[in-house]
Amino acid sequence: MDTWTTVMAEHRRKLIIDCDPGHDDMAAIALAATSGAFDISAVTTVCGNAGVEDTTRNALDIVSAFGVDAPVYAGATGPLIHVYEFPTKFHGVGGMQSAGAAFRRSKASARPGHAALEIIRRVKAEPGAYTLVVLGPMTNVALALALDPSISTTIREIVFMGGGTHGGNITATAEFNIWADPEAAKMVLASGILCTMFGLNVTNEAMITRADIERVRAAVAGRNPVADILDFYASTNPLFAQGLVDGPALHDPCPIAYLIDPTLFETRALPVRVATEEGPYLGATMVDLRRIPSGDDPVINVAVGVDAGRLNKLVVSALCRAAELCAANGGLPQSIAS
Ligand code: BDR
Ligand code: CA
Repeated sequence: MDTWTTVMAEHRRKLIIDCDPGHDDMAAIALAATSGAFDISAVTTVCGNAGVEDTTRNALDIVSAFGVDAPVYAGATGPLIHVYEFPTKFHGVGGMQSAGAAFRRSKASARPGHAALEIIRRVKAEPGAYTLVVLGPMTNVALALALDPSISTTIREIVFMGGGTHGGNITATAEFNIWADPEAAKMVLASGILCTMFGLNVTNEAMITRADIERVRAAVAGRNPVADILDFYASTNPLFAQGLVDGPALHDPCPIAYLIDPTLFETRALPVRVATEEGPYLGATMVDLRRIPSGDDPVINVAVGVDAGRLNKLVVSALCRAAELCAANGGLPQSIAS
């Protein structure tokens, strides 16, 4: 490595991306991989959009397609307590269904060891170095905290997609990631780790239109799994996206975009309670926009505003670049590549 490359590498933020790919998880990894701002040190997987075998397989395929040199560790096969069915009607069979071409199956396997243990190992080895980007249910992070609460002082910060200031997608009141494992979310928010929440109130504005998907398609000649995967998502996502019709909301890139350019979002420190009681509010995040602290509710950073136009430009150009990387890395279905 020359001096300049070494200096640049030292300035890149170290990430562990904990995810459940997931169409928008794929878009988030695309944004992280193409930004040049990060050292993606590890990708950890959790059940959420699909079972953990599928989300892990998808994560392996994604990192391989985009040429990301990061190990993948499989994590929780189920939430701490809540039992639910995987949302195949939104993310399709396998959690990242494509309307056309799929990524080429990676030959790599997940590394040995549970994702929660790997999170502990890394954040203890380099205190203050790691930012955790959590894009699925928070089960792995909660397990890590339960196994070793001291990591609450060694994680630099957590940015996560989940919750919202009002309304839900999986139920009328709850957003999917929090609803899928509300007890885990409650633990993580109460841990004292600096947390920033990107909920539906901002992520529903992170739309990608059909025209944007066509731009991604036009980025490379021939088969284009990135565009085809987004196409599938565009056909199902409006079903649960609070009436969005022009295109799907790409929720998961938001925390990554914030790390790249915090001015894209307005954030406020606000008390947030996660509802864990069975019933119509299970998994809801109750955000006190009045800012009145209550002894019980942790105060975390909440994204309350977004510059949707600038965010869209950032994400779409990253997806175009990711489509190019995928073509360059041979991210085509085996049958076509061979
Ligand atoms: C969240 O749920 C999942 O379906 C998406 O990947 C995203 O993380 C949106 O509610
Ligand atoms: Ca996700």
